[in-house]
Amino acid sequence: MSAMPMVIAIDGPAASGKGTLAKRLAAHYGLPHLDTGLLYRAVALTVIDAGHNLDDHQAAARAAASLIADRLADPRLRERAMGEAASRISAVPAVRAALLAWQQRFAGGASGAVLDGRDIGTVVCPNAGVKLFITAAPEERARRRHLELLRRGESATLGAILADIVARDARDAQRSTAPLKAAADAVILDTTELDAEEAFAAARAVVDRARPH
Ligand code: DC
Repeated sequence: MSAMPMVIAIDGPAASGKGTLAKRLAAHYGLPHLDTGLLYRAVALTVIDAGHNLDDHQAAARAAASLIADRLADPRLRERAMGEAASRISAVPAVRAALLAWQQRFAGGASGAVLDGRDIGTVVCPNAGVKLFITAAPEERARRRHLELLRRGESATLGAILADIVARDARDAQRSTAPLKAAADAVILDTTELDAEEAFAAARAVVDRARPH
């Protein structure tokens, strides 16, 4: 029996369902959850609200260094355009460096934690006890995101969403600092053919195998 707090690292591309899974796993195992995409979205929103251009790397680095938790509750962070803006500023190494300490502090708490993002298993928590890489075919991710946006009353065509997803994956995977990729020791969970319950059951099975009994 190990006394080590359990850290679950969940990575994956845009609209892969990793956020929903992370939230459900956190509730199931009684762990705090950090959606790390929100940090990048909050930095992007801070830059935009201050009237700076998203290409202004110094403004982005300053926003990341002084980010306060209150900003993470802004409902605008969930908007579609903010995902794109976050992806752009997340390629700035100084932004990533400033957010790294924040994320590692969260993960290092006594209770353990669930974090989801793009580089959790590779950079933020390389020693996490459980690493999951959640993926699905781009067309299926676009279909799910489209339904979700319709439910929220936002309108966008399926084609536009698919184009967004493909462009965002390419940018996130090709950046030089902490690109989107599965850690060598991550379990890859492809949810293309799974519904939400099946995906949750599969993720739980991975965690239960890794956990000390
Ligand atoms: O998970 P999300 O869609 O909220 O993330 C928005 C963007 O933030 C994503 O396209 C890339 C960036 N991001 C990142 O670079 N590293 C993370 N750990 C999380 C998000």
